Amino acid sequence: IRIGALISGGGTNLQAIIDACEDGRIDGEMAFVGSDQAGVKGLERARRHEIPGFVVEYGPFIRAYKQAPGQFELPRDFDIADALAKQHLFGDDAPEERTREFLCTRAAAESRLLAEIDARGPVDLLVLAGFMRNLTPYFVDRFNTDTNNPRIMNIHPAILPSFPGVDGYGDTFRYGCKVGGCTVHFIDYGEDSGPIIGQRAFPILETDTLDDVKHKGLEQEWQLYPECIQHFAQKRLKTVKMTHTLDNGQV
Ligand code: GRF
Repeated sequence: IRIGALISGGGTNLQAIIDACEDGRIDGEMAFVGSDQAGVKGLERARRHEIPGFVVEYGPFIRAYKQAPGQFELPRDFDIADALAKQHLFGDDAPEERTREFLCTRAAAESRLLAEIDARGPVDLLVLAGFMRNLTPYFVDRFNTDTNNPRIMNIHPAILPSFPGVDGYGDTFRYGCKVGGCTVHFIDYGEDSGPIIGQRAFPILETDTLDDVKHKGLEQEWQLYPECIQHFAQKRLKTVKMTHTLDNGQV
């Protein structure tokens, strides 16, 4: 299969996936690596393996919207009403203006991302590897054209559905959990809420620091992510019915 990746940082998971493609643990090849941050180590890793890379920064879109929301140019194929109805990144009590701003600015950036992706040919699977941006329904629908065959994967640093959000290991550690873990899942319209593909756990000892927890977790991630991608490549994942998590966490 052809695999695309989106990153925001160091890309140690990206490296694990590249290595697994190169040594045959994944029946696939990397088609591109996109980043929302310039100059990150993950892009350097891509270059070293001669994988095409590109950057789409979100900042300019967010600043432009804040300066003049009325003049903000939306992608022509972006349907704001549809995105508002589908997304469940925010609770029902979130101010609509905040959600609207989020969707418009992200969709504008995503439109650029999609153009960069399209320019590098179609991929079978898009993997998020430390990509620190939530995707809107506008982007997700471009990949999940068949609702029973989601095509965007993510790795999350916690045992979902516990501790969604940006700091899974930190939240796990501060809560006082005795076990931590990571989850590979498909992306849906919510935050870290899509169907789970695989999970791994590790013990958290009394003496562990947050750095120890992160280190143990990443070592599990580097094994779990390539395994899950290989399941996808070999079509071993049974067709899932996409669930849509409600605000109260029930599906
Ligand atoms: C990982 O902990 C991953 O679970 C989370 O972001 C981190 C990315 O690390 N989504 P890296 O860039 O792959 O080193």
